[in-house]
Amino acid sequence: METRVEKVNLESPNATAIRLAAGLLRDGEVVAFPTETVYGLGANGLDDAAVRLVYELKGRPADNPVILHVADAASAKRLVSEWPQCAEALAEKYWPGPLTFVLRKSSIVPEVVTAGGPTVAVRVPAHPVALALLREFDGPIAAPSANRSSKTSPTLADHVLRDFDGRIPLILDAGPTDVGIESTVVDLTGPVPEVLRPGRITPSQIRHALDGDVRVHRGDAERLSSPGMLPRHYAPTARLILLEQDAPLPQEAPPGKTAYLTLAQRRDVRADVCVFMPNSPTEYAKRLYATLRDMDDQSVGVILVDMPPDTEEWSAVRDRLRRAAH
Ligand code: TXA
Ligand code: MG
Repeated sequence: METRVEKVNLESPNATAIRLAAGLLRDGEVVAFPTETVYGLGANGLDDAAVRLVYELKGRPADNPVILHVADAASAKRLVSEWPQCAEALAEKYWPGPLTFVLRKSSIVPEVVTAGGPTVAVRVPAHPVALALLREFDGPIAAPSANRSSKTSPTLADHVLRDFDGRIPLILDAGPTDVGIESTVVDLTGPVPEVLRPGRITPSQIRHALDGDVRVHRGDAERLSSPGMLPRHYAPTARLILLEQDAPLPQEAPPGKTAYLTLAQRRDVRADVCVFMPNSPTEYAKRLYATLRDMDDQSVGVILVDMPPDTEEWSAVRDRLRRAAH
């Protein structure tokens, strides 16, 4: 199969490419498309076989459910059996945007989407191309990040092409994604909302929008409430060594080619490649995955990373760095 890469303009998404993508989805095919977080590997979310194909292409374990993307809150409501007040308030404030809700599923959602579970993850992405595709397709699109399982998520169409060239018919290319890391996942099925995966939208923002309590899931490999939270999920090939700000620095450089991802204050770390990372959490997140892939391309064996401070605004970046280091 030949993989077509269609460039789409952000301001006025090319109607032909969008129609082509929607047609392929209707035919049960898998299409990669941009969202504001990372590129997604999309399939018709109500087509059991199409969603299975996504799992197969990714090499994703069948027990890790996928997110359904929809064009608006009204479409999300059809996929769930309960729409609590907190969902209404968060949708009002953050949709379209990088926030995914876990809610009780309705009967139209296939088991394969939810990995057999009673809940479904839904979100309205804030990307003109994703929204144009969702409107044209006129149905939910199941889309995990468009990477092979356990690789870092793609923030460029080229990242998708590397993993899926010849295996999917179409990639919609709208350039680099804006957020750079995956959406915040918040479980709204319990009495207190719980953040299962940190992202651009922080627990404080959610708390503020709801004017109530919000819990933050402490990720560990034992609890599978959000199986994608398994530590192995976001790993580059190079080994990461995380340097906390108050921890002693390594005395000797590790063997092989080394890189150093430094923050504003460069410390006395010896490495072959030095990359200055932005000192803002949003800018850092935007560059993180492409930087890790770059290091792999340069055959870096070990990446020494200055850890950003342990504050809420940095928690999503710290989370992805810890996973990459695992
Ligand atoms: O930003 C994003 O969320 C991107 C773009 C493409 O939208 N998608 C993405 O999908 O990151 P994926 O499949 O790579 O990650 C989905 C996460 C996983 O951690 C998965 O376990 C969790 O959402 N998830 C999905 N359905 C769930 C459910 N019913 N209950 C709990 N967690 C769920
Ligand atoms: Mg993923």
